[in-house]
Amino acid sequence: MSKSTESTDLGLKKIFAGAQDFLPLLGTDYIELYVGNAKQAAHFYKTAFGFQSLAYKGLETGSKDKVSYVLKQGKIRLILSTPLHSKSPLNAHLRKHGDGVKVIALWVEDAKKAYLETTKRGAKSYFSPKTDRDEFGEVVSSGIYTYGETVHIFVERKNYNGVFLPGFVTWKSNYNPPAAGLKYVDHIVGNVGWGQMNTWVQWYEKVMGFVNFLSFDDTQIHTEYSALMSKVMSNGNGRIKFPINEPAKAEKRSQIEEYLDFYEDSGVQHIAVATDDIIETVKHLRKNGVQFLPPPPEAYYQAIPGRLGSHMKLMKENVSALQELSILVDADEEGYLLQIFTKPLEDRPTLFFEIIQRMGAKGFGAGNFKALFESIEREQANRGTL
Ligand code: FE2
Repeated sequence: MSKSTESTDLGLKKIFAGAQDFLPLLGTDYIELYVGNAKQAAHFYKTAFGFQSLAYKGLETGSKDKVSYVLKQGKIRLILSTPLHSKSPLNAHLRKHGDGVKVIALWVEDAKKAYLETTKRGAKSYFSPKTDRDEFGEVVSSGIYTYGETVHIFVERKNYNGVFLPGFVTWKSNYNPPAAGLKYVDHIVGNVGWGQMNTWVQWYEKVMGFVNFLSFDDTQIHTEYSALMSKVMSNGNGRIKFPINEPAKAEKRSQIEEYLDFYEDSGVQHIAVATDDIIETVKHLRKNGVQFLPPPPEAYYQAIPGRLGSHMKLMKENVSALQELSILVDADEEGYLLQIFTKPLEDRPTLFFEIIQRMGAKGFGAGNFKALFESIEREQANRGTL
C-alpha cells in the first residue's frame, strides 16, 4: 500500500537509535509567519481556524519596527508579524515570498548548546545566543538558517513564566471564537529546489542529528502528469518531523515547482496539525469558511474497505461521513490515519494546512498521494499553472 508499511515499531526504534540527540529538541515552540497585514491575518486565523488570542507586541508596547500577534490552540502557537515601516528587513522577505513561514522555533533545554552544536556542524548563523528578560524571568534564544530564507530559532524557556516571550503582553480580546479541536503540530513540510532534497536530508542528519525514517521516490509519488520526491526527517525522540520535498520531472508541472515559482525560493509548504476528532474539526472549519481541496472521486471511497483491510474493523468513523467532508484515509501496519488538506491560505499558491488524526498509523498518507495530487492538479489547471 505505502512505503510506510515497512516501518514496524521495532524498525522505527532501530532507525531512531541512529539519531543523535545532541540538542535535544523538546517540541515545536512556535511558528512565525511574515504577513502583509498581521491584524487582518490574526482575525482570519481566529475566525476560520479557531485560534485564541494569546500575546501581542507592537507600537503600544514599545516595538517600533514590527508588530506581532501570537495565537494559540492546544499546544500550537502561531505568530503573525508585519513590518511597521519600509526600512524593516521583513519587507524584503514579504516582497519576494509573499505571506509565509519565516521561523520554525524549536523548544530546547539549552539554546546556547543548541547553537554551538549546530553551528559547529555547519549551520549558518541567524543570530547568536541572546537573553531577553522581563519581570516574568528570562528566555535564552539563538537561531540558524535552514532551507531558503527559513530559520530555526532555539527557545530555552525554563526560567520564564510570562505569557509568551519577554517583550510580549497578554492580548485580551472581546472576540473569542470557539476552538476547532486543533491540538499540536504533527509535522512541517519543506519544499526545496530541483536536486536539493538529499542536500537538505544530509543537512538535517549532520547539523541537527535527525534521521531519515521514510522515503518516497517519484515512482511512488506521481500521477499521470506530475511527480515529486519526499524524505521524512525526524529528531531522536520523534517529536519533530520535517518531510522534505523536491519536484521530479514529468509530463506537466509538479505542484512543488508551482510552489517554488510563486514563493520564489525553498520554503514551508504545509503545516500539519493534529486533532482527536477530524469529523468535528472539519465540520467546524468548513462552517467557518475554510476551503479544502476538492474531493477525490467516488471510487476512492468505494476502495477504502479493500485498502484498509483488517483496520476497517477498528475504524470508528463512518465512510459516508468521511466522504461527505472529503476526508482521506490511509493505513500502515500499525493503524490508520485520517487527513485533509486546505487550499493555499494566501493568494500565491504557497502555504497550506493539513488536518490529521492518527489512529496508530505513523505514516504520512502515502496511499492518498495519488488522489491528493490529482486534486491539486485540478486546482493547478484552474490557475493555469499545471
Ligand atoms: Fe503532510
